[in-house]
Amino acid sequence: MLRSWILLPCSKKISSSIIIIKSVKIFDVNILLINGPNLNLLGKREANLYGNASLTDVEKNLESIAKSNGCNLETMQSNAEHELIDAIHISITKDIKAIIINPAAYTHTSIALRDALLSVNIPFYEVHISDVQSREEFRKFSYFSDIAEKVFSGLGIKGYELALLEAISKYKEA
Ligand code: DQA
Repeated sequence: MLRSWILLPCSKKISSSIIIIKSVKIFDVNILLINGPNLNLLGKREANLYGNASLTDVEKNLESIAKSNGCNLETMQSNAEHELIDAIHISITKDIKAIIINPAAYTHTSIALRDALLSVNIPFYEVHISDVQSREEFRKFSYFSDIAEKVFSGLGIKGYELALLEAISKYKEA
């Protein structure tokens, strides 16, 4: 349930009958963005496939979209499988409500990452900047797509935005 705004009484009394009510925004929905190996090189890496925006550009844009929707976005990127797994495990203790993940090359290889997502049982959205279905044969299989809430593939970095908006709207509905 999204509780974006609450009203808190502030202590300032103008007269005995008027109290200033201060409006305070409460961000109580935590969403985690995870990017896998080589995505730290976004903007430099195969621009024909992945575009010119850097990972920082992507993260900043998503943070601002999350904030304007009353959510906290936490971001992490790693080239190491075990660090990605640890970030997924720690999500439970951080009360993460949804995960947006581009597992990058681990999409096609990592049963361990799949198991980590199944273990924490947090809804997740799979993102691929390029259209993995129209590339090499080995990219067509994903260890995640059958258990993801939704897959955003081939939409460029817009896919991250759409995944975030989908996660937020699903959470608002609940
Ligand atoms: C990718 C597609 C993967 O096949 C590839 O290994 C990546 C990025 C994408 O965003 O299009 O590193 O996940």
